[in-house]
This record gives sequence, C-alpha cells and structure tokens, in this order.
Amino acid sequence: MEILSTTEADIRRAAEALRRGFLVAFPTETVYGLGADAFNQTALACVFAAKGRPRFDPLIIHIAALDTLDRLADLSALTPDLREKAAILTARLWPGPLTLILPKRSVVPDLATSGLPTVALRFPDHPAAQELIRLSTGALAAPSANLFGRLSPVRMEHVRDQLGEQVDFIIDGGRTAVGVESTVLDLSGGIPCILRPGGVSRGSIETLIGAVEFPGTSGESKLVSPGLLKSHYAPWTPLTLHSPEAIAALPYTAGEIFLFFSPATRNPWLAEQTRQGVVPPPERIWVLSDSGTTLAAAANLFDLLHELDYLGVSCIRAEEAPPMELGPAINDRLFRASGSIRGA
Ligand code: TXA
Ligand code: MG
Repeated sequence: MEILSTTEADIRRAAEALRRGFLVAFPTETVYGLGADAFNQTALACVFAAKGRPRFDPLIIHIAALDTLDRLADLSALTPDLREKAAILTARLWPGPLTLILPKRSVVPDLATSGLPTVALRFPDHPAAQELIRLSTGALAAPSANLFGRLSPVRMEHVRDQLGEQVDFIIDGGRTAVGVESTVLDLSGGIPCILRPGGVSRGSIETLIGAVEFPGTSGESKLVSPGLLKSHYAPWTPLTLHSPEAIAALPYTAGEIFLFFSPATRNPWLAEQTRQGVVPPPERIWVLSDSGTTLAAAANLFDLLHELDYLGVSCIRAEEAPPMELGPAINDRLFRASGSIRGA
C-alpha cells in the first residue's frame, strides 16, 4: 500500500491504477471511500473482500459529471413526478452528500448493485475525488473505506489502520469536512424515502421536493438499505446511548468516558458532580460540538470515536444529538455503534 497526495501527478497515478483494476481509497466530503472501477467485476469483488462486506450489500457509484447519471440510470422508467424531483435534487444538491437510488441500466454490473434493479449514485463535493473519477472511468464504486461494521474513516490514518495492505493506494486529503456519510434517498418508486440519514438534512430535501418518508433508525420498516440491517459503525469499546435527561442523571464512574453533545449539557452535569465531591478526570469528559451545532458534531463524530476507542476504557456513554439538521444522522450512527440493532 502506498500513500499518495492530492497533487495532480498523484491523482493521475491513482486513476491509472483504478483503470488497471487496483483499489484506491480516496477522500470525499463525507468519509473516505474504497474506490474501484465500477465496470470491472474483478475489482468490485476485491472491494467486497477487502472490507469483509457481504455481497448482498450494494455499493454506491460515484460520478463526477451529470451526463454520467443518464448512462448508469434509466430515468425514463420513473414517473414524470419523480423524474422532476430527481432533476431538482441533482441541480440543487449535487455535488454534495446526497445519494440517489434510481432504476439501473444494464451497463452497471449486478455485482455492484447486489442484483437489485436499482443503482445508488452520488456526485461527491470534493475536488480530489472528482478529479480521480474523471481521470479514471468516470464511475467509481466506493463504499466507506472501513472494515464491514466498523467505524467509518474520516482521515487517511483510519483507512490505513483498518485496511492496511488490502488497499493499493490511499489518497491523503486530511480530515473530511462533513464527517458522516451521504443521505441515501430512494427515488425509484412511490414516495421518496430516506433510507439512511446523512450529510444532507431531511429539511433541505423537503424544501426542494416536498414531503419525503423517513422510517427512522429504530423503526421496523420494509424500506431499509440492505446494509442497514445490522450493528454498524461500531467502536471496539462498548458504547451506550443516553437521552439528555438520562445522561444528566448519571453519576461519573471511573473507567468510563462521558461524551456530551455540547457544553450546554456537560457543564451542569460537571457542576453536579463537583457538588457531590466527585472530580471526573478531564480526559474522560468530552463534547461532540463545542459550538452546539449539529454540523460541527457530525464533523467530529467518527474522528472522536476513533480517538476514544484507543483509550482502553470500559465504556463510552454518549448523549443523543438534538433531532434537527444533522442530528438524525448523528443519532443513527450512535445508535448503531451501540449495537442496539443486530441482525443477519
Ligand atoms: O458518503 C457516502 O455515501 C460514503 C462515501 C465514500 O461516498 N459511502 C458510503 O458507502 O457510505 P457505503 O457502502 O458504506 O454505504 C452505502 C449504503 C449502504 O447502506 C447500502 O446498502 C446502500 O447505500 N445502497 C447502495 N445501493 C443501494 C440500492 N440500490 N438500494 C438501496 N440501498 C442501497
Ligand atoms: Mg459504510
């Protein structure tokens, strides 16, 4: 495995490697992706193998030009209403952290879509990712560049530590900006439905195209992304998720980490501990967002979980984010990290 930079020369090398069937991990605005040429079946098989990902969990195809959408997805199979909604979303939110599920064309290998009649498409908002896609084959299949079920990578080091020699090149673009994966929106039939909350909020989508469904993270639902059925995004350290009220009432226990959403909940809790004569060590008390915004919390989420996971504590107690903006995406990741969802 070789680490590359985002210089043009290095991106050209990486693109050439992709055209020859190698795997290249690259930064996007959300998390790092493990990229393979979307049309190369052998390379696609290597992606599933490198991650230890079951083949029933389909991949997102990353594109860097709107024309590519028509090559890979059959918009004529949509109702006029959904076709218009797709056009609005791609015009207004692409490039950006929104993945659209659309009827697929036969050029997309079944291996990439796990045999589904639909394809997941995303146009990432990241110059190095776009350059890499354009200089390779215009379409890169890329799941998050972590081992299946583990924390998503938001730095080159996270990819290197999890995938090591399973990946041929890693492009180092520093820490990613958004910090949680793209929102996955199913536009393939019926009412648009959020299969995975992510970097674009439900509100931003509904402002543009009207009501969308969101079955939610814990709800029993017929419509979930195949990859969302199991415990996911898990740190090695056990994590428990608490409401703001519940975490406020918990006493500090030695050997545990308290991860508050913001100082607004941490400070009164700390004051209460002090009143009771308990002084928790500062390295055990964290906040996701100093400013109290969900945007900053999302950007810190995986980076902080990776860091806390190395401390060797017995438990991470995390507070839920407020349910607005990127809050649902954060809570979805924390809920799955807590292992509350288990399945096949
Ligand atoms: O931000 C992101 O989306 C990142 C970066 C690298 O772009 N990628 C990412 O990929 O999160 P991955 O493979 O970790 O998650 C893709 C999700 C999975 O939950 C998968 O089941 C779902 O998208 N998915 C892919 N194709 C689908 C399809 N045809 N129908 C329904 N869900 C699909
Ligand atoms: Mg993933």
